[in-house]
Amino acid sequence: MRDDRTTDTATRRTEALDVLRSNRAEGYTIPSATLYPFQWNWDSAFIALGLAGVEPEAAKEELKSLCAATWENGLLPHIVFHTDAEGYFPGPEEWGVDVDGVATSGITQPPMVVPAARRVYEATGDDDFLDCVYPALERHLEWWVRERSFDDAVVYVRHPWETGMDDSPAWTEPLAAFDPGEVEYEREDRKSDELADQRPSDWDYDRYVSLVRSARAADWDERSLRESCPFLVEDALTNAIFVRACDDLAALSVARGDDTAATTWREQADRSREAIRDRLWDEESGTFVSYDRVGDRKLEANSVAGLAALFGEIPTNEQFERLRRTLRDDFFAHEFAVPSYVGEAFDPDRYWRGPVWINTNWLVADGLRRYGATDFADRIDRDSRRLVEREGFREYFNPETGAGRGSDRFSWSAALYLELTGDR
Ligand code: GLC
Repeated sequence: MRDDRTTDTATRRTEALDVLRSNRAEGYTIPSATLYPFQWNWDSAFIALGLAGVEPEAAKEELKSLCAATWENGLLPHIVFHTDAEGYFPGPEEWGVDVDGVATSGITQPPMVVPAARRVYEATGDDDFLDCVYPALERHLEWWVRERSFDDAVVYVRHPWETGMDDSPAWTEPLAAFDPGEVEYEREDRKSDELADQRPSDWDYDRYVSLVRSARAADWDERSLRESCPFLVEDALTNAIFVRACDDLAALSVARGDDTAATTWREQADRSREAIRDRLWDEESGTFVSYDRVGDRKLEANSVAGLAALFGEIPTNEQFERLRRTLRDDFFAHEFAVPSYVGEAFDPDRYWRGPVWINTNWLVADGLRRYGATDFADRIDRDSRRLVEREGFREYFNPETGAGRGSDRFSWSAALYLELTGDR
């Protein structure tokens, strides 16, 4: 039995590497050849994390190429279009952005790039790599504080795609609060009938596109968008990753012998942590939620974003005990942990409205270990492995049956499988 499993893991690891190599282009890796044929921001970070212990050179290249796309003001775009984008919507013409000859989107994603850079640096000890990426990482975190925070502590997003959890039920209320008007476009993301049922609805898509077009019309000016954008949300997941990024940048500053920067980023992490505990904790549901700045209200959805607060070591001990109960009672209720959402709008097959994703599992398990909850963390890691070993490197999985969903040969599922089964 044990031998079988070991062989199985070894075979799967070889397959994982094969997925990553076949999705690799010049210096970066695409998330999926069928659905996402460019470089994505937090995907690259998870890919580098998984590659750090296996193909460190590729991991470094991945992050270097991502960092090279940082805008002058510090925004790190959610998509970098290194190649022509025919057949993809919204492609470069829709965004109209050019960074030194490379087209990018005009929104960002959670700053996983910093935790990933720390991991790659610690795996390689390569100071040249650190010197190369550090300025972009710092510029990016400064941008979050300067351009994306009302109080220099809690950060906000201005598009659901920026959270990485595109169609989370948490966004329904703030999206319903504005009228997108007549929006003309053609979707390219429903490549089959099966996928059409899993992807976000047209109602959501109208609003996604309208937010992109109005931000572009404002010339991506964050100050003016802070006044005019109808969607401004302090997302629990983005904030958790942001805080962890500040801690990790502090650690990288120490490695560079820059104690002043280390103190700055440590203080930023503490300030943010305290404000997040205050504003995003929801005593009634026993988890962290997001805050709608436009509607001035908490968005009560019980999603994996709330559990991800553990990754930023945000919960106090008391909040942790409560959060652990929420995890056990609500999120361990199905065969496979951790569903992306539990609650009225739960749909086990639809994208971020119920399916298990390997990256959010990884974040929650990492956070649980920081609180010493290894039993819970082990359960989550075991489920991630079981899902991949049964179904392959799918994009997401049905938490009730384990059935693989979304695209196949999905890069971060492969990369994080390598991370989970490697020397940790
Ligand atoms: C989807 C996911 C997002 C991911 C992207 C590329 O849009 O919601 O989190 O970054 O695909 O894989």
